[in-house]
Amino acid sequence: MGADGIPPAGDAQLLAAARAVRERAYCPHSGFAVGAAVRTVAGDVFTGVNVENASYGLTICAERSAVAAAVAAGMRPGQLAAVALVADADQPVTPCGACRQVIAEFAAPDCRIVSGLVRGEAVRVWSLPELLPEGFTL
Ligand code: THU
Repeated sequence: MGADGIPPAGDAQLLAAARAVRERAYCPHSGFAVGAAVRTVAGDVFTGVNVENASYGLTICAERSAVAAAVAAGMRPGQLAAVALVADADQPVTPCGACRQVIAEFAAPDCRIVSGLVRGEAVRVWSLPELLPEGFTL
C-alpha cells in the first residue's frame, strides 16, 4: 500500500499484465495456472507463466520465468522493483520458497510483491523481508 493506504497505480497495471499472461500458462499436470509480471527500477515490465513438465520437479513457477525474462533483457541485482502474481484461488497466493530466493537475488531495497486473484478483488502486498526473513546472500 501507499502511505495513504491506497495501492499505487503501478500495482494495478502489473496485476493486469500478470492476469493477461496467465492465459498462456502451461500447466497440464496441476491445472493451476499462474501469471506473473515484474517491473524493473527503470519501469520496464516483463511477464512469465508457470511451465510444467512430465517430470514434475522440473516445473518453473511464473515468478521465476518472469524474472528470467527480465534478466535476459538486462536486469541485474538491485533492479527488481516489483513482482505481481495472479492465480485462481480463494485467497491471493504467496510465492514459493524457491521464487522468494530468486527474487532476493535481484530485488531493489524496497521491492514489493503483489498478489491478486482471477476472480475477486482481494490483493495482498508484501515486502521481501516479510516473505524471506534472513534470506541467504553471498
Ligand atoms: N506456482 C507458481 O507458478 N507460482 C506460485 O507462486 C505458486 C505455484 C505453480 C507451480 C505449479 O505449476 C503450479 O503452480 C502448482 O503448484
